Amino acid sequence: MNVNIGIIGGGLMGREITSAFARWCALVDMPVTPVLKAVADLNPEVLEWFEKIPSVTQRVSDYRELLANDEIEVVYVAVPHHLHKEIYLDVLKAGKDLFAEKPFGIDLKAAETICEVIGETGRFVRCSSEMPFLPGGQRAFEVARSGKLGRVLEVVSGFHHASDLDPTKAANWKRISATCGEGGVLNDLGMHACHLPLRLGWAPKRVFAQLQKGYPERPDGRGGKVDCDTWDNALVHGWSEIDGAEVPVRLEMKRLQPGATNTWFIEIRGTEGGVRYSTADTKGLWLFEREKEQFWKRSELGFETAFKTVTGGIFEVGFADVIQQMWASFLLEREGLLDGRFGCATPDEALESHRIFAAALASHENSEVVEL
Ligand SMILES: NC(=O)c1ccc[n+]([C@@H]2O[C@H](COP(=O)([O-])OP(=O)(O)OC[C@H]3O[C@@H](n4cnc5c(N)ncnc54)[C@H](O)[C@@H]3O)[C@@H](O)[C@H]2O)c1
Repeated sequence: MNVNIGIIGGGLMGREITSAFARWCALVDMPVTPVLKAVADLNPEVLEWFEKIPSVTQRVSDYRELLANDEIEVVYVAVPHHLHKEIYLDVLKAGKDLFAEKPFGIDLKAAETICEVIGETGRFVRCSSEMPFLPGGQRAFEVARSGKLGRVLEVVSGFHHASDLDPTKAANWKRISATCGEGGVLNDLGMHACHLPLRLGWAPKRVFAQLQKGYPERPDGRGGKVDCDTWDNALVHGWSEIDGAEVPVRLEMKRLQPGATNTWFIEIRGTEGGVRYSTADTKGLWLFEREKEQFWKRSELGFETAFKTVTGGIFEVGFADVIQQMWASFLLEREGLLDGRFGCATPDEALESHRIFAAALASHENSEVVEL
């Protein structure tokens, strides 16, 4: 069965998703196939890039023309955060299903409005968050649910990179609050850190946050300078209820983490068992066992994905693979064919992540603990 897709915003992520569709043949026993039919972007060079995709029959600068195309069933939207609410609502009101990029609106209020309209229109909507589809993420999730951790002592979940350490890097919309949102790095990387803890039912009940800014000014890429005012690093110290006990759950989102490149990680430590996974060591899965002696055991993961592919089991999984896994999950769940496998982040999870970001901003502002 084919599903006709339209993309609004063909930048970094729009093209990444396009490449995942182009190698859909990698998936085995996959009853649903996305067919990219239409792209909307304000930038003519972006539209030109899509000329190389044979299935694309509509390339437009006004996304409303894409929404008026009766062929399109699902719309993926990957635009700057200040445009999320308006475009997501237009997609839903046009009667299309929506795969929305995080953070699902520029702030909590926008996320609430988007969720209300999802309720009114009844469309199928999910939020993009691909990292838990890594074999290490899937295993961490299984271990967390296995009941073999004993009493959970601590959870750390985060996403780090370091590219903002370079003061000569040109600014883009992600470094300016008007377009990225007041949350800054919380909006940019927060869903990655929140997704697994939220899926496990470990939303923090109260938080204390420490936020830091990056360089106040950057090159604008056109020979000038531009003011940058977003938070670049965020540490959110939360308390969550896990099996009736209060447990520290720390969420870390950083664009200034020396040496890190797109490092997503999760650590769950319990009295009997534990798990540690980081994309800095893509294949390495660490499991804790407490016997007479205590061990952290490292195993090397292969290509153990939730949705099977032609790729040999001993090979490595990468970013492009998990983007494809996430889309397989989205399209199968939309057809009611997920069969208990890991589903994409839901609107409720995206909304909950915004509640955490809003609480973190309030906490930092007043240097106080904020209840959720
Ligand atoms: N899931 C992930 O791992 C991940 C990674 C990066 C970014 N993102 C998210 O994806 C979204 C887009 O980020 P990006 O890095 O691709 O940004 P980008 O700047 O590379 O691309 C955004 C595109 O949107 C286009 N655009 C802007 N206004 C538009 C409009 N009114 N109509 C149509 N097109 C318009 C721009 O021309 C640009 O091509 C953001 O929400 C971001 O948080 C997610």
